[in-house]
Amino acid sequence: MMKFEFYNPTRLIFGAGSLAQLGKAVRPYGKKALLVIGGGSVKKSGAFDRAVSSLKAAGVSVVEFSGVEPNPRLSTVVRAAELAKKEACDVVIGMGGGSVMDASKVIAASVLYEGHPKDMLVRAGKVPRLPERALPIITVPTLAATGSEMNNGAVITIDDEGEKLKTFVQADVLYPRVAVVDSELTVTVPKNHTAFGVCDIITHVTEGYFNGIDGTPLQDRFAEGVILTVLEWGPKAVNDGSDLEARTQVQWASIVALNGWVQAGVNMVAPVHMIEHTLSALYDTPHGAGLAVVNPAWMRFAARVRPDRFAQFAQRIFGLSATGKDDLSLAMEGINRFEEFLRSIGCPTRLSELSIGEITEEALLRYAEETLKVLQDEEGRLPGRPPLRKEDIVEILRMAM
Ligand code: NZQ
Ligand code: ZN
Repeated sequence: MMKFEFYNPTRLIFGAGSLAQLGKAVRPYGKKALLVIGGGSVKKSGAFDRAVSSLKAAGVSVVEFSGVEPNPRLSTVVRAAELAKKEACDVVIGMGGGSVMDASKVIAASVLYEGHPKDMLVRAGKVPRLPERALPIITVPTLAATGSEMNNGAVITIDDEGEKLKTFVQADVLYPRVAVVDSELTVTVPKNHTAFGVCDIITHVTEGYFNGIDGTPLQDRFAEGVILTVLEWGPKAVNDGSDLEARTQVQWASIVALNGWVQAGVNMVAPVHMIEHTLSALYDTPHGAGLAVVNPAWMRFAARVRPDRFAQFAQRIFGLSATGKDDLSLAMEGINRFEEFLRSIGCPTRLSELSIGEITEEALLRYAEETLKVLQDEEGRLPGRPPLRKEDIVEILRMAM
């Protein structure tokens, strides 16, 4: 039987043109905003100027922090938090992709955190000291992928000398107060990042679908709804970036995929994400591209343990017939179809397609060890169904070559 508690306090203002409401949405939470952006895409598109106008019209002054990098670094977060303190900002706005939004969340928490923000991040063998306070956070996503705009998670790369670990924090104070989601802001996302986003959305729900507990029929249908919607609308957004309807449908799917609703009661763990984060940490691989490589390989590995689940995926997502097939062969057929879909929208699906240097056995072993530095169970395995030992992670990566 399922038991769960659901909490998500983020107000969602959704739809094309919503950016005009940013000032009004922020004003109840502060008068001086740290406006956090990435490498400049929002300036090029004009979205930054429109955001600033809306804020100023509502009586909110702006302190800009630009230059959050993809796979955001902790050192960048620390610099931004210092600026927010120095300028006495009372609200933090993250306007960009998941990297910018995640950085903004940890910046907002760092301003009020006693000690180094590294201590709030998950690392194997250490108990994170979660933030209990944060400046109010407002998110303005410009890329449909992570769902960070309406969840309580942030993924950050520790970039200390001698340590490069991509890890995360999840805490209630990191829920944005408001997410202003304007799909018009996503029309400038290039083809490759649009496709990576599609893969990320699907992977957010497949993690729960395949690793969660048994007996969650409604959650299964929610997850399948997200996947089917993205299979239909994702290619349209990739093929014609200016298709606002497709951009809007994909963006809504990205939010639903990871705002907690689909995951409610499934007891989700995310081994594919954990393995991918190592690639992003070591090689700055874009998150969704790394997932497109790791997920099919992980599926082929895990299907041996839970073939019925993957057979269900094959039937319900790709409409494959079970006649004359055992669960495992049907499962493998479904996974092949999934991989073909990823390739059809331009995602890499093999390690050799990523810029990660020579893939030796030593390198694979190192990825596995790095992955386990973030999260492991009492027996030293990465949580999931099945839990993964170091050798299993190596095998999955080998299957992705
Ligand atoms: O930096 P700028 O110039 O803005 O360019 C970005 C960046 O180069 C560009 N971009 C974003 N919006 C654009 C645009 N280019 C043109 N037009 C626009 N409208 O896209 C590039 C990638 O941006 P990034 O933010 O890195 O991508 P994404 O949204 O996929 O975020 C990935 C990060 O989020 C984490 C990932 O691990 C990774 O660090 N995740 C966060 C999660 C969460 N908080 O819940 C869950 C996810 O599973 C994920 O792990
Ligand atoms: Zn993801």
